[in-house]
Amino acid sequence: MKTLNTLLNSELSLYLQTWNFHWNVEGPHFAPLHELFARQYGELAALIDELAERIRALGARAETRVAAEVSGAAAAPEMLVSLAQAHEELSRAMRQSAIPEFEKAGDPGTVDLLTRAVQLHDKAAWMLRASTR
Ligand SMILES: [Fe+2]
Repeated sequence: MKTLNTLLNSELSLYLQTWNFHWNVEGPHFAPLHELFARQYGELAALIDELAERIRALGARAETRVAAEVSGAAAAPEMLVSLAQAHEELSRAMRQSAIPEFEKAGDPGTVDLLTRAVQLHDKAAWMLRASTR
C-alpha cells in the first residue's frame, strides 16, 4: 500500500499549495485565478477522499504525513507554473509507475481510480498553463 499512501501525501501537498495560492494570489487576474484555484483544490479534495477510502477498502490504513511549507509570496505566473508542474509530476508518476503496478497486480478498481486521477491532473495542468499566456 506504500504506492497509494505516497500518492495520497503528494495529493495532499498539492491540495494545500493550491489552497494557499487561492488565498495569496495577487494581481490584475486575481478574480479568475482565485476562482480557478478554488475549483482545483475542490477537485483535489474529492480525489484525496476517494484515494484514502480506496486504501481502506483494500484493507490498509490511510497514512498522512504532510509537510507542505508554502509561503504564498510567489507572483501569479510563478504560482501557475509551480502548480502545473506538480500536476504534471503526479500524472507522470501515475502513468509510468503506479498504474502499471496495479495493472500487474490485477486490481482494475485502483487502475480506474488512478486513470481518472491522471485525467484530472492533465486537465488541471492544461488550465494552469493556458492561464500563463
Ligand atoms: Fe475561499
